[in-house]
Amino acid sequence: MATESLPFSVSLELALEGAGSAEAQLYQPALAEAEAAVADLRKAYESGSLELLRVPERRDDLDAAAEAAAKLRENTSAICVLGIGGSSLGGQALAELIPFGALRKVHFFDNPDPFTFKAALASFDLKTTRFVAISKSGGTAETLMQTLAAADAIEKAGGGKYLKQHFLCITEPKPSPLRAFAESIGCPTLDHPVGVGGRYSVLTVVGLLPAILMGLNAYAIRHGANAVLQQMLNGQSPAASGAALHHALARAGRLRETVLWSYADALKTFGPWWRQLWAESLGKDGKGSTPVATLGPVDQHSQLQLFLDGPGEALYTIVSTDMKGEGPVVPRERASALKLDYLAGKTLGDLVSVEARATAETLHAKGRPVRQIHVPKTDERGFGALFMHFMLETIIMGRLMRVDPFDQPAVEEGKVLARRYLGQE
Ligand code: PA5
Repeated sequence: MATESLPFSVSLELALEGAGSAEAQLYQPALAEAEAAVADLRKAYESGSLELLRVPERRDDLDAAAEAAAKLRENTSAICVLGIGGSSLGGQALAELIPFGALRKVHFFDNPDPFTFKAALASFDLKTTRFVAISKSGGTAETLMQTLAAADAIEKAGGGKYLKQHFLCITEPKPSPLRAFAESIGCPTLDHPVGVGGRYSVLTVVGLLPAILMGLNAYAIRHGANAVLQQMLNGQSPAASGAALHHALARAGRLRETVLWSYADALKTFGPWWRQLWAESLGKDGKGSTPVATLGPVDQHSQLQLFLDGPGEALYTIVSTDMKGEGPVVPRERASALKLDYLAGKTLGDLVSVEARATAETLHAKGRPVRQIHVPKTDERGFGALFMHFMLETIIMGRLMRVDPFDQPAVEEGKVLARRYLGQE
């Protein structure tokens, strides 16, 4: 496939220089290792052994999802997406693409807070509310309880006969409590691809069915992801250089945190999506760095002091978008009357753009390593590209750290205990 240009650009100019010479020396060997990891990913793509890499080129599953979405949207007042972790965060990140104030029928419920969920169920017209229950394993207690509570509420509201029209479940094609629930009520199901891990599933129907339900172009999301993937397969990978940069800093003992600082509301929930990906994939065997998701400019007034003047063991990735000239303009006359000449004729977008730049340069001046990512448009293609970039970077980083980025063995213990305690109660 011909390689198309990436929907974003990356600069490491303020990263290595600011990181000092020891880190700069560690970078080249780390990059060589990262490129070896890319060579393995290329083989995995060719053999099909890593299913995630084959997702961007798929179409069949999206056609089925579009059909299912059309049915779910018929006579519907609200659609609730039930799921947690990787079964929710991708869809939530994509929801930020819906402009402020535009009608949002799709609601995400990940945290099973009893007060929120009770109030939500009471606020919906349950006769016309649909639920999409998503769980790869089909056995996650939080999602199962929400699903069963929703079914019960519909039955109590007199809709028991039509239960199957209220639900769609996304889960792996194998026996599980969620699948058994779907079969018991006869509702439609879509398969969660077995070879794609929960936190890597945003480009599958897990993230893209909610996207379609919100009116987004799921094909364009995949298109953006594929552009990044093909670039990597053809030998150009900002994901490899990003992983190498992280690894060089870690080896120099300067990577306690990695900060993803997005300067756009559209990326507000992209940060939490990435945070789960990085934390759960790479925090293991006593290794890892804490991912911190921040939003600009607002976190300049919250975290920047610490970032500039604290221990300084972090990499900062500043993500900016094209905003210059966007949004309301400050009228010249009023600005001058208030002696605010520097704001005269400027837009909010002008302010946010220069603040992204100023923050990067200030951090750099303090000797903090800064990577800059510029995604001109935060549209579906741009999002797809960023999703794929950060998933590849995480996988490559796992290889550099010698940890398996696809498992999460430590969290199982808590789940077993919670089940035992519920049983005892
Ligand atoms: O990435 C992961 O595997 C996890 O964070 C899961 O997404 C999360 O635990 C939810 O699991 P499931 O989709 O099986 O309900």
